[in-house]
Amino acid sequence: MALSCDVRSHPEQEAAFAAILEEWGRIDVLVACAGVYVGGPLPDIPPERWEDLVAVNLTGVLVANSLVAPIMIEQGRGAIVNISSMAGKTSWPNSAEYSATKSGVIGLTRSAAMELGPHGITVNAVCPGNTLTAMVRQVAAEIGATLGMTADQWLASRAEDTALKRLAEPEEIAGVIAFLASDDARYITGQSIEADGGLILS
Ligand SMILES: NC(=O)c1ccc[n+]([C@@H]2O[C@H](COP(=O)([O-])OP(=O)(O)OC[C@H]3O[C@@H](n4cnc5c(N)ncnc54)[C@H](O)[C@@H]3O)[C@@H](O)[C@H]2O)c1
Repeated sequence: MALSCDVRSHPEQEAAFAAILEEWGRIDVLVACAGVYVGGPLPDIPPERWEDLVAVNLTGVLVANSLVAPIMIEQGRGAIVNISSMAGKTSWPNSAEYSATKSGVIGLTRSAAMELGPHGITVNAVCPGNTLTAMVRQVAAEIGATLGMTADQWLASRAEDTALKRLAEPEEIAGVIAFLASDDARYITGQSIEADGGLILS
């Protein structure tokens, strides 16, 4: 069943969870993945851009976690996977806003893991490195332009920074998420797993 909602809206998320419960009667897994990237020099951050980024990347995840928590507590079981980023663990210039929201996701993941663990619920985060999706192509164009590079040149330089010398395919991040949502990961909680091809080693 596919539903759409704006994660910035508490009522829209509430309605989505209610519709899922009505159809399926339970929720076993939450993957809080919706996110946007914006970046730029610190002096040029418009307040409304910051507020919107926080609303999507951080409030959206917090609200999803808070709405699914009572459902999973009632079940005595569940797995939550929040999508952070390597930008939440390390950082680079012109990404203060994005990094701040993704570090926030790691913090809320740790606290939620402590709070929900006694109810049989695991809460983990995944921190992808550059992954070949629409987002990274947009980022490549924006950041590349500031460095005098084409999008492809910037992507190639990011690949060169990894141990594996390539960027991630979306399926490779999905596999980590599926593992954390599975019974094989029942004893893993509060972690922020780096799926970055060895980027952090550089
Ligand atoms: N692609 C990367 O290199 C990369 C690296 C690290 C982390 N991430 C994170 O992975 C997640 C998925 O990103 P992606 O690369 O697939 O990007 P994407 O732009 O391809 O997909 C993002 C999705 O979020 C949805 N979304 C955006 N704002 C929303 C809102 N207000 N309400 C509901 N949905 C909304 C979009 O519709 C889209 O489906 C994001 O949280 C992103 O920050 C991506």
